[in-house]
This record gives sequence, structure tokens and C-alpha cells, in this order.
Amino acid sequence: MKISVIGCGYLGAVHAAAMASLGHEVVGVDVDEGKVEALSSGRPSFFEPGLGELLVRAQDKGRLEFTTDVSRAAEAVVHFVCVGTPQKPGEFAADVTYVDAAVESLRPHLTRTSVVVGKSTVPVGTADRLAKVIAETGATMMWNPEFLREGHAVDDTLHPNRLVYGVTDGDAGHRAAATLDEVYATMLAEDTPRMITDFATAELVKTAANSFLATKISFINAMAELCEASGADVTQLADAIGMDDRIGRKFLNAGLGFGGGCLPKDIRAFMARAGELGADQAVAFLKEIDSINMRRRVRMVDIARDALGGSFIGKKITVLGAAFKPDSDDVRDSPALAVARLIATQGGIVTVTDPQAIDNAQRAFPELGYVTDTSEALTGADAVLLLTEWKEYRELDPAATAELVVGKVLVDGRNVLTPELWRGVGWTYRALGRP
Ligand code: UGA
Repeated sequence: MKISVIGCGYLGAVHAAAMASLGHEVVGVDVDEGKVEALSSGRPSFFEPGLGELLVRAQDKGRLEFTTDVSRAAEAVVHFVCVGTPQKPGEFAADVTYVDAAVESLRPHLTRTSVVVGKSTVPVGTADRLAKVIAETGATMMWNPEFLREGHAVDDTLHPNRLVYGVTDGDAGHRAAATLDEVYATMLAEDTPRMITDFATAELVKTAANSFLATKISFINAMAELCEASGADVTQLADAIGMDDRIGRKFLNAGLGFGGGCLPKDIRAFMARAGELGADQAVAFLKEIDSINMRRRVRMVDIARDALGGSFIGKKITVLGAAFKPDSDDVRDSPALAVARLIATQGGIVTVTDPQAIDNAQRAFPELGYVTDTSEALTGADAVLLLTEWKEYRELDPAATAELVVGKVLVDGRNVLTPELWRGVGWTYRALGRP
């Protein structure tokens, strides 16, 4: 099938490459020439495991092209809208101007057989509004939210745990769903569950899912606060409650909390949209979820300062991790960088290292020090803060690391190290929610 993908960032680039790998003919459209050039040469402008190989393979087979020229989308039957919906500056609401612009740019190229499939995370009501925008072309609007995780995006796209189609009632909706079934035939053949809903439900499924995940993380981080107050251990608590499969152990990792381009802005956009709909009380708890999350960053700084005897002034602090999570180079609302900046403003001499995210971090916060090599970053440190749990940091050897530093002070912001191993060779080991 001929497909266009509008917006080739973290979501669209992966979606375009994945659809081409399923055998479709795909054109990816983006306004950013640099991005188009990089993707065309099989070098995505961001780090996502497996994406480079997928791009090269699809382009070698002649099934995938990237362009800045939206008229190239005209031949496609299905148009996926994959642009970003960032938080508006100074507001909680999501900025949907890129979604509006994408649909507007597609409009002249749509016909009665076209299906426009929204994948971006949008405030409920957007699909209905956009359906009216394209109505006169005769094309059909659908909403098909995306649940991929950065770092696992290729696998999540090719093997999703569910497909949700938001459609209008009637023949046009049925035909559009049948068209999307053809696009996703390979996944449906693998028995991927598929649900057909109305627009509003499809939009809310995405926002509700991310809100639930954020709530789970903040719940365990609230328990971490109680563990800190009472001398209990939140990692054991999470293991024990997680054994109840009604609760489940996933997303109960206490620590520095959530960041990235999705969970923080999605819960805020949800609160803003609920307010517009007169349902603000229903999601008022998300404000507390947000507060618990942000408090962890401050608490991390407090623990580190305390471990250094009460002041950062003149102390060398090595921050392990800049990305908002491992296997990603995304630094949007990165908890690690938020902590690094707070420490720098309190007089600490901060060196940040990360396997993939240094360039992005440096662009966002040029005032911090950056070193690529882990050993070099650790050399001479008065304290080490593990803030993003990359594999290579989880596997650090306590004795070898001790040889590099000046002060054997380690704060584990992600609860991924074994305290006894570090304490055993003389480290002061501190963590969030653990004695
Ligand atoms: C999230 C959702 O998990 C995806 O399902 C969704 O499709 C995506 O947002 C989106 O809206 O596009 P992502 O932002 O890639 O995916 O990251 P997550 O894996 O959800 O992690 C978010 C943050 O929570 C990270 O900072 C991570 O370190 C933190 N986290 C996660 C915890 O602090 N504890 C946990 O137990 C799990």
C-alpha cells in the first residue's frame, strides 16, 4: 500500500521505516531539511536502537523515501500524522499547531479514497475538529494512538500490544478501518488485539494510559518518601506489592521519577483539557502526581549535598546519565539534567557523562561540563550520582571505580546498584527511598 508519514521525529521516523519493512511503499515528509537528509542516508538524527538498520534495509529495497515536499504524499492512500504536540510555553496545554499544520498541508492532496490517520498524542476532541477540516475533500479521518516507548520503538511499532482505531460511525468509518487493517495485516496475523472505538475514546486511551503509568511511578515514589521517613526500603516494598498480579511489578521502580517528551507534558495537557471540558476535578490528582515527581529531583539534590557534608561549593560531582531514560538520547525534561543544573547553581562543579545524549544535553544546557568517557568523567570526583540507569553504569565495578574518585560517595538515583557491594569496599552509598 502507498503510505505517507507526516512528521519524521521519534514517532514518525520509526513508523515510516516500520511500515516500509512490512512491504508498503512509504514517503516520509518533514519540514526539517537536516532531518530528511539524515534519514535519507540511513543515519537518523536521534538514537533509537535498530532504527538505522531498518532505514537502510527499506531504502535499499526502494520502499522508503524522505522529503520536505508534501506534494509527494499525493500518491499515498493512507496518511499518518506523526508530528509532536509539545507543552505550550507558560501553560499546561498541548500545542497542537504542528498537527493542524500537517493536516492543512495534506488537504490539497486528499481525495475521496484517502484516509488520514492521526497518531500524535492530542487533546480529546482534536480528531473530530480535524475531520471537519478535511470533510470537503471527501477523505476519511481516523485516530490510531501510538504506545511505543523510546529505546524499544522499533519492536513496539512492529509488535504492538494492541491497536486502537478511533473511527466515525457509518460506512466511511468501516472502510477506513478496513484500509488500516490492510496496512497492519502482518500485526493482525500475529493476533494483536484490535479495538474499534469512537474518536474521543481513542484519544483518551492514549492520555489515560500515560496518566496511569505516571501515577504508578509517582505512587511508588510517594512510598519512597514514606520509606525515607520511616527507615523502610522501597525496593523491597515494590517487590512485595508487585507480586500481587493485580498490582504488578512493572513501572514500580522508585527513584528520580519520570521525564521525557511524553509523560510530563501529557498529564499536564490532560489537566488543561479536562478543565476546558468542565471535568477538572476528575484529574485533579494528576497535579499531585506531578508534584511528587518533581519533589524527587529536589530530594536527590538534598541527599547528595548531605552526603557531601552540607555543601556543594568547590566539590566535583560526576553525573552518570543525561538522557531521560536509558537507550535514548532524548533529554527533554530529563530528571538527570534537572538535578545536574540544580547542583551547578548551588556551587557544585558538575561533569555529566552519557553514552548517547551528550550532544543534545550540551545544546540544551551548555553551562554544564561534559565528558564522553566514563572513566575520565569519574576521575577526581568527590561524589558520583547515578541518574540514568544505562547498562554500563549498572555494571560499574565498585572497587575499580573507587580507584578513580577522590571521595567514595555514591548516590543511586535509580535504585539499580547493590548497596552491600559498594559499602563493602568503603563507599558511602545513598539512595532514594532506602535506608
Ligand atoms: C511513554 C509510554 O511508556 C509509552 O507507552 C508512550 O507511547 C510514550 O510515553 C508516548 O506517549 O509516546 P517513554 O516516554 O518512551 O514512553 O518512556 P517510559 O518508558 O514510559 O519512561 C518514562 C519515564 O519514567 C522515564 O524517565 C523513566 O526513567 C521513568 N520511569 C519508568 C520510572 O521512574 N520508574 C519506572 O518504574 C518506570
